[in-house]
Amino acid sequence: MPGRTAIGLDIGTSGVRAAELSYGRDGITLEKFGQVALPEGAVRDGEVIERGIVVDALKALWKGSGLKGKHVALGVANQRVVVRQIDLPWMSPAELKNSLALQVQDYLPMPVADCVLDFHVTEEVRDGAGRTLRGLLVAAPREMVMANVAAVQAAGLRVTSVDLTSFAVLRSVGRPHSEVATEALLDIGARVSNLVIHSAGQPRFVRVLMMGGQDVTDAVAERIGVPAFAAEAIKRGQVDGLSDDEVQLARSAVDLMLEVFVDEIRGSLDYYGTANPAFPVERILVSGGGSILEGISERLSAVTRRPVLAGDPVSGCRLGRTGLDEHQLTTVQPLAAVPIGLALGVVS
Ligand SMILES: Nc1ncnc2c1ncn2[C@@H]1O[C@H](COP(=O)(O)OP(=O)(O)OP(=O)(O)O)[C@@H](O)[C@H]1O
Ligand SMILES: [Mg+2]
Repeated sequence: MPGRTAIGLDIGTSGVRAAELSYGRDGITLEKFGQVALPEGAVRDGEVIERGIVVDALKALWKGSGLKGKHVALGVANQRVVVRQIDLPWMSPAELKNSLALQVQDYLPMPVADCVLDFHVTEEVRDGAGRTLRGLLVAAPREMVMANVAAVQAAGLRVTSVDLTSFAVLRSVGRPHSEVATEALLDIGARVSNLVIHSAGQPRFVRVLMMGGQDVTDAVAERIGVPAFAAEAIKRGQVDGLSDDEVQLARSAVDLMLEVFVDEIRGSLDYYGTANPAFPVERILVSGGGSILEGISERLSAVTRRPVLAGDPVSGCRLGRTGLDEHQLTTVQPLAAVPIGLALGVVS
């Protein structure tokens, strides 16, 4: 019998995904994983737009995947979420919880009353000025979070926590005890990509980029004048029926978008590197559906001059009766990073 369980729920542009973990004496078990695709426009830039469609997808997900629990940890990620490193005077966790809103207004571009706040302590600093808490302040616009929470509730589920998607990726893909001191994790979605740099599990830098695999698909669609679903298939290498010219055009559209994307990542790594010279990024672990695109890891590696490897969110868990065979598990692995990481935030 599974012990305590937790479900992580990822509402992405291309689909809703959930992972159910159980936490027992033998460690953590992945009990269930499932996903249901969403049509374009139902979720835009991390925000639920068509609530009815998302609600139906969530109901179908629960029905189809055998997920037992109704309580979920929900991920948020978009450009409107502010993540900043700040120092606060030392205080106990309880004091921090109660007074966070009073402490952080000066760091935010929006009224604190309109935000859902979180503070992720990364270190305690003692110097001449006394004892301070250094950490990452996360502030998400309340109405954006609430639109997503409302969709989940309307599907008969209960949101027990809301977490930054980057932190979920850190938990599931980050290797705090590996041979490298500092690594970057990059979850590449359809429209949203999360970059988090950590040392031994402590996040040093988080950036949410509004770019992903769908931008590559759009570029192909525009270049050769085909609808999005056809461009998606072409991007994935299904080029039957295309002329040589069209294949060339599609390739160059993919190449161009990849160049823009990889440059953006290099820019973020450079920015981080300048501010943190003592903790250089030694490698990059990628996840998310966008990371499956052929050639993306090689490009990223060539431009950033660092090894790029596929993140592995599943190997830390025992496998329960997920209903997925070995091959299916390998296929879903990149997509499981976020929901597994969200669930890990509950059980840890
Ligand atoms: N085999 C594949 N080859 C190339 N790209 C792929 C492949 N499979 C999935 N993708 C791409 O992965 C992207 C979707 O990734 P993912 O499912 O992680 O995003 P999402 O979580 O739904 O969206 P977001 O996080 O941006 O809101 C799509 O752009 C899709 O084209
Ligand atoms: Mg995603």
